[in-house]
Amino acid sequence: ETIVATVDKNMDNEKKYKQAVDILKSGEVVAFPTETVYGLGAIATDEKAVQKIFAAKGRPSDNPLIVHIGHQEEVSNYATGITPEAEKLMAAYWPGPLTLVLPKIPGVIAENVTPGVDTVGLRMPDHPVALELLRTLRKPLAAPSANRSGKPSPTEASHVYEDLKGLIPLILDGGKTGVGVESTVVDMTTTPPAILRPGGVTKEMIESLIGPVQVENKVSDEKAPRAPGMKYTHYAPEAPLYLIGSESDTIGAAIASLHNEGKKVALIGPDELDNPEADWFFAIGSKEDHEAMAANLYRALRQCDLTDADVILAVETDLTGVGAAVMNRLTKAADGKRYKD
Ligand code: TXA
Ligand code: MG
Repeated sequence: ETIVATVDKNMDNEKKYKQAVDILKSGEVVAFPTETVYGLGAIATDEKAVQKIFAAKGRPSDNPLIVHIGHQEEVSNYATGITPEAEKLMAAYWPGPLTLVLPKIPGVIAENVTPGVDTVGLRMPDHPVALELLRTLRKPLAAPSANRSGKPSPTEASHVYEDLKGLIPLILDGGKTGVGVESTVVDMTTTPPAILRPGGVTKEMIESLIGPVQVENKVSDEKAPRAPGMKYTHYAPEAPLYLIGSESDTIGAAIASLHNEGKKVALIGPDELDNPEADWFFAIGSKEDHEAMAANLYRALRQCDLTDADVILAVETDLTGVGAAVMNRLTKAADGKRYKD
């Protein structure tokens, strides 16, 4: 009973946007593509609708959600304290994979979008389908990634369907997403501002405009649990995942040793590796091309779960540019573990 509606340039999509808008206005959720990952949206001023996001995802609701807007001017409807630095970042990188955390105007956005905080995370996505949906709806959308809790974020409509079929009424299918990892989150309420989550808008890109920023160095981007048992489990593959250095000798020796123990190995790494010894090899892009690696990472993680690998090895990238976001997500999937023999 989940409808998948394809929206592409060659079709008349008006009816599909109308259907999505009608569903959202009736207080239900809709999955839609953004340039980062697919989001599961509900009208951000409708507390009951937002509650349905948590129900569909199967996750607790104590972590703030990002609010998506269709025009930059809308920021001042929901946030105050918009500093010159925030203005510069919006002018340069919106629409785009950048979320700004700003002081919220109380009583506008539903309480369960920003539980326990006096700030709101806002972003204007750079995707024609997301923008058309927001501009037709003329309301803000709270939208976390459209995956079931514990799965990698969806970068294709089929991933959303796998996870949420029967649980949500509509998926707008706009093809594969571009960036492939969630937006960069920057807290603009501290001095200097702090990157809470690395993403497609890199530290270098931010610092070139507003000078030095802090980087929050946590494996988890989730706040401390407020009650026992409420901590989120981030994505963890079925088989244990270990980070491993990029030298082919190191990788070859690790695979040989795991094979000696009778274990089957899936390897995620750069195209150049082309390692014939792994039982499965998921190449995610040239080692020079961090953007490609980010774009293909979540799909590769989902593919690992379709194998019967006993161990997954993921090759480390350097931390420049979008490499920081790739390593952040891999480190979480590995729960910080590095392979050592
Ligand atoms: O790329 C993305 O940002 C995707 C797509 C769908 O747009 N959305 C996404 O949303 O990842 P969400 O709601 O899962 O992001 C939540 C994370 C929180 O874990 C936190 O790190 C940060 O965004 N965040 C949001 N609002 C915040 C706030 N007011 N204060 C601090 N962190 C906040
Ligand atoms: Mg998510």
